[in-house]
Amino acid sequence: TFTPKAFVADMVAELKETLQDDKVVLGLSGGVDSTVAAVLLNHAIGKNLYCIFVNNGLLRKNEFQSVLDQYKGMGLNVKGVDAGDRFLSELAGVSDPETKRKIIGRVFIEVFDDESHLIQDVKWLAQGTIYPDVIESVSVNGGPSATIKSHHNVGGLPDYMNLKIVEPLRMLFKDEVRRVGASLGIDPELLGRHPFPGPGLSIRILGDITPEKVQILQDVDAVFIDGLKSWGLYDKVWQAGAILLPINSVGVMGDERTYEKVIALRAVESTDGMTADWVHLPYDFLMKISNDIINKVKGVNRVVYDISSKPPATIEWE
Ligand code: XMP
Repeated sequence: TFTPKAFVADMVAELKETLQDDKVVLGLSGGVDSTVAAVLLNHAIGKNLYCIFVNNGLLRKNEFQSVLDQYKGMGLNVKGVDAGDRFLSELAGVSDPETKRKIIGRVFIEVFDDESHLIQDVKWLAQGTIYPDVIESVSVNGGPSATIKSHHNVGGLPDYMNLKIVEPLRMLFKDEVRRVGASLGIDPELLGRHPFPGPGLSIRILGDITPEKVQILQDVDAVFIDGLKSWGLYDKVWQAGAILLPINSVGVMGDERTYEKVIALRAVESTDGMTADWVHLPYDFLMKISNDIINKVKGVNRVVYDISSKPPATIEWE
């Protein structure tokens, strides 16, 4: 059976042995996986770990600054890089889901490469890859299985970066990663955060991405997530988020006909993301959130709830 304490002790020893006095660069995403990987490495090699937290402009509302502050408070050697405009301009006009992922993966690597070149003599790249990422992305690494979705944080590193890769969580499932994080003393609120995809809100905006759509979705998502928290539902859900659909629907506001955006809400139960069931959120909650979204967020006049399980649906819509 898996014991977090033993894992931490063994992994810290292994990392010290492997990395010696080498410098390591790591991309923090704000999520549980990269955070746990960073704290683990920080235990092993301290200031030789250089963390970079990139704002791709597709994070949750206000997340870049608040998470950056949190990381600094944890004693991590971290630099925040705000590249939102660069990502959004590269994504302009792109609707295809896999193309979005590829662009984000490429731009992320470019930004990250620029940043890591500012640090002298980096030898290693650390990643918070976990086991489900590895198996869902086999074909990215040249394996036989068909790519379901290309996860940009696995395997796509160009040779010119010349960095060796270290992935201390590669054999762990999500719940094991959380337990490791807890035994490392990481804030339970941070550890309890829902998973969030690397490509961020880009794959929850169906169709092309514009700054206006990102803002609408950030506002809607914040209403939904804050609502889950204040109703005590957040921790009962494995992952939740809102999706901005590429259609308008007719509504009525006062005496006026409206023709505005449709939002889908998604909340799932899962243990590892490989399979998932939709959560039976209370009707009262759904009613309140739907009203709040439509009243507070301009440009949205309809909210629907996704009642599909994985398989055959996936958690994300793209
Ligand atoms: P799906 O949609 O495949 O999602 O059922 C399973 C889990 O993976 C997350 N996900 C991603 N994570 N890059 C990531 O880092 C991606 O491209 C990506 N696509 C999906 C998803 O949020 C869920 O937790």
